[in-house]
Amino acid sequence: MATHLRSDGTLELGGVSLESLTRGEEATPAYVYDVDAIRAEGRELIGAFEDQPHLVAYAVKANSAGPVVRALVEAGCGADVVSGAELMLALAAGVSPDKIVYSGVAKSDAELDLAVGAGPEGIGAVQIESAEEVERVAARARAAGRTCRVSLRVNPGVDADDLDTHAYITTGHDEAKFGVPLESIDAAVDAILARPELRLAGLASHVGSQLTSTDAYLVGARVLFDLAKAVRQKASLAFVDTGGGFGIDYGEGCPARPADFIRATRALQRERGLGDLALYCEPGRSMVAAHGVVLAKVLQRKVSSARRWLMIDAGMNDLMRPALYQALHRVVPLRAISGPTSAWRVVGPVCESSDDFGVHTLPDDPDLSHVALLDAGAYGYSMASRYNGRALPAEVFVSGGRVTGRTDRRPMSEWVEDRLAAGR
Ligand code: LLP
Repeated sequence: MATHLRSDGTLELGGVSLESLTRGEEATPAYVYDVDAIRAEGRELIGAFEDQPHLVAYAVKANSAGPVVRALVEAGCGADVVSGAELMLALAAGVSPDKIVYSGVAKSDAELDLAVGAGPEGIGAVQIESAEEVERVAARARAAGRTCRVSLRVNPGVDADDLDTHAYITTGHDEAKFGVPLESIDAAVDAILARPELRLAGLASHVGSQLTSTDAYLVGARVLFDLAKAVRQKASLAFVDTGGGFGIDYGEGCPARPADFIRATRALQRERGLGDLALYCEPGRSMVAAHGVVLAKVLQRKVSSARRWLMIDAGMNDLMRPALYQALHRVVPLRAISGPTSAWRVVGPVCESSDDFGVHTLPDDPDLSHVALLDAGAYGYSMASRYNGRALPAEVFVSGGRVTGRTDRRPMSEWVEDRLAAGR
């Protein structure tokens, strides 16, 4: 949790009072990000590599706001992208093309063309996720008259039950659509080596997200490293990429810091005799989650004999994680309020039963006018939608103890005009 309680009982983020950001009719719901803390997060992780050649490819999907991506670029990060649009964004935000890896099971020809055509030599690596994709990437490189650096994303066949995370965000088991299954690796490597347009640069895997122990992370890394040793018998490799997935503490604990995951991975890499290869990772959540909150206004309360609901102006369209993954984000007042508290079920205005942020102990006092939903910097705004005709939330960027940028909520009329104009 990156918010800080001041001695006067008010909550701040990055030195800015959160209450001061709630003035005005359209001020909430709003995401607020501590850009300096995000930059520091990137630097701390990069520091863990010491003299090991590396790339921290920030997974842009977690939070693609310009100030956030630029801060991580300043820290020295590259980017892991999953669409042509994210690739364009990373390039425009100043990521050098060779520090970009592009994951994704089904890339369009237009997207592959962007990757192949970027910079003088294309991007750092197009991650090939199936044997079938090899010829598609080769064809786009051929059409552009270029060679394309690729890596093979391996599906290490890690059972989702072996990981301490939600099944929806595990990606390295044998039913997942992601990555080349172990039994097809040999054929896929041979297919790549047979294409003069392709250069095999590395092997990659990503087993899941919100892993809270380094042991869970190493389950996938171990399989990857064993494969890398075998593949090196016939092809030279420049890197191994152990993916993202470093967990954060949403309130239920996560003793491992991102740097701990890297230290553990480096130790294993050296032990397997692969210390000469660059180590890539693709963290998203751990760079940004704790450094963003959602501010919401309390619209009303509803009390029945059995339940107490606190209804706020942020809904599942603004922060989808609770509805989609039963995720719990702590909900806290923006200023300490004394007096009795109760267990309030915090819900939004969207017409869905899953528009529910869970039960939180909050003051009964009607003075509670606003709350913050914590640890919302990752997969928050980037997954927001306009369902129910709702405007996208505002975004506020804090740096150096002050607000350095903001995007207001769009007016209601914009959605109305957009929908009426559909098909015209
Ligand atoms: N690399 C690849 C290939 C990925 O698929 C992902 C995430 C990452 C890196 C970054 O993982 P991270 O470090 O953020 O765990 N929307 C979900 C998370 C989905 C993650 C999808 N892939 C959530 O809100 O929990």
